[in-house]
Amino acid sequence: MKVASLRCVLFSAGILTVSDKGSQGQRLDRSGEVIRENLSRMGSRLVKYEIVPDEIPVIADRLSEWADEGGMDVILTTGGTGLAPRDVTPEATLSIVDKVVPGFAEAMRGQTLSVTPMAMLSRAVAGVRGRCLIINLPGSPKAVQECLDVISPAIPHAVEIIKGEVTEHSVPKPGT
Ligand code: MTE
Repeated sequence: MKVASLRCVLFSAGILTVSDKGSQGQRLDRSGEVIRENLSRMGSRLVKYEIVPDEIPVIADRLSEWADEGGMDVILTTGGTGLAPRDVTPEATLSIVDKVVPGFAEAMRGQTLSVTPMAMLSRAVAGVRGRCLIINLPGSPKAVQECLDVISPAIPHAVEIIKGEVTEHSVPKPGT
């Protein structure tokens, strides 16, 4: 009897919301909530969640601390990717990653540009620190959902590769 292979990659994740107002309790973190719902649908385990102000040292410290503790496969940030003077999430992320992974941001901007031309205003980046994949998402709940719709299918396989669990010879077919 042929048994259908069930492919289920579980990973652990952290959500870092970057927002001056959110960190002062002046704004509800709806974008963090959207990420949380998406992670849950992906079968991911949420291990850390925090809201920090738009300050490079604070963002960089938290990202490197979470990545270096181990036990966290993915960190999704939201907010601070734009053009405002205090938008510094990409700079903080680039200051602590070992490798840049341009494809995630290219895909987010490229594919969601058909939804809104404002997609080009996000300077989001992605990279790997140690065994942890870090991806910036824009700040609005709508943008978060649009971007996660694009990149979610690639995250589990990226985690497997980063953890050394697969080689380039065992690439899954989309949707498996
Ligand atoms: N990307 C998508 N897919 N959808 C959006 O609505 N909003 C843009 C952009 N990226 C948007 C998007 C806007 S208006 C801004 S200002 C930038 O993300 C940066 O947002 P941030 O500074 O809150 O990260």
